[in-house]
Amino acid sequence: MHQFQYRQGVLHCEEVNLNTLAAEHGTPLYVYSARTLRENYQRLDEALKNLDHHIAYAVKANSNLSVLRLLAELGSGFDIVSGGELFRVIKAGGNPGLCSFAGVGKTAEEITYALEQKIYCFNIESLAELEFINSVAGENSTTAPIALRINPNVDAGTHKYISTGKAENKFGIDHEAVREVYERAARLPHIRIRGIQMHIGSQLTSATPFVEAVERVLPLVSELKSAHDLEFFSIGGGIGIVYEEALASGHPDWWNRQEEPPLSPEIYANKLVPLLDSLGLKILLEPGRYMSGNAGVLLTTCLYEKKGQAKTFKIVDAGMNDLIRPALYEGHHEIVPLEESRMTNRITADVVGPICESGDFFCQGREIPDIKANDIIALMSAGAYSFTMASNYNSRPLPAEILIDGRQVHLARRRQSWDDLVTSE
Ligand code: LLP
Repeated sequence: MHQFQYRQGVLHCEEVNLNTLAAEHGTPLYVYSARTLRENYQRLDEALKNLDHHIAYAVKANSNLSVLRLLAELGSGFDIVSGGELFRVIKAGGNPGLCSFAGVGKTAEEITYALEQKIYCFNIESLAELEFINSVAGENSTTAPIALRINPNVDAGTHKYISTGKAENKFGIDHEAVREVYERAARLPHIRIRGIQMHIGSQLTSATPFVEAVERVLPLVSELKSAHDLEFFSIGGGIGIVYEEALASGHPDWWNRQEEPPLSPEIYANKLVPLLDSLGLKILLEPGRYMSGNAGVLLTTCLYEKKGQAKTFKIVDAGMNDLIRPALYEGHHEIVPLEESRMTNRITADVVGPICESGDFFCQGREIPDIKANDIIALMSAGAYSFTMASNYNSRPLPAEILIDGRQVHLARRRQSWDDLVTSE
């Protein structure tokens, strides 16, 4: 559920009219709802209330300082994957002591910084990395808290680029090898074993793969808990969101109407809590997309219509550099006109950006509202992996980001200028 709804015929974010906002700040423009972020966090926290748990928001989904600050204020921890993300969390007032550092390729510089900041845990992905972190910790006369990331070899049933828990993926340590690597870790002088972690993939729309993965690793986790005095088990992120009917899914009614409701915190908790609560470990979660995905939209203006021989194109002022998910993962973002009246006339068209690539599209051959030049549309569910994956390709300045809270409009990041494009060259 989220806070993007039509009021008096115009799409609003919370109390703010998005047409007025776009007139003031220009497009392309990312807009986030603070209330949605808070509700998402609290709903998951509430669903898990009978379990000793902690939420570590996956910063990569949306790392704007204002978003991180809001989540830090709610008590969130953070799942980070780079020194830069740790730097952001600290700048936003987040607690480094609640940060777990994931990723297969941590550098000496990043490890040293994370040790200095006394992060909660390094999630280790290989024996080589374990040995390296031990040596860096030694050079810094300290001890590194660690968890091993276990690869449970289950199919998450998601897009191949965002599936991470199969044996052929680069992530984690094979289930069969984990015991031995823990034994090695226990003998290293600058390593302190703290937990175990897994993450099987992103945008999972069913609880089944989570259950399968937890069931598969549970006996081993229990054994390692006794052998190495583990404190936590992180079950990763991956809770999927609704992309296809994103606008409608903002209303509770929509959820009640579904015969088979999509994955929700309640379904996730109902399936997983019974498996986990007897373990006696703190359970960490690393949701990224669930937290911010439906809390954001990308506003873009239609520049031209072009009727080709084979197709109709609506050319907009956002491009694949601003939102790459359709090009990279065949990601679906619902297209919603800011003027509700535009909803009635439908047309089959491609919505494309100005970038010089055929992969620069937001939809292809989709039935969409028949938008005209100067109409603004919202690309829905663009709060996760959207701005964070944006680039300056084609020398396009990065869009501005706005955080709405009730009636309040906060410029969370100013639009880049052409000068910004060249200042570091
Ligand atoms: N934990 C780890 C170790 C991860 O690698 C990820 C995401 C997460 C947590 C958060 O997963 P989430 O709850 O957001 O599903 N750019 C892609 C998604 C990449 C996900 C990478 N890892 C997309 O736009 O679909």
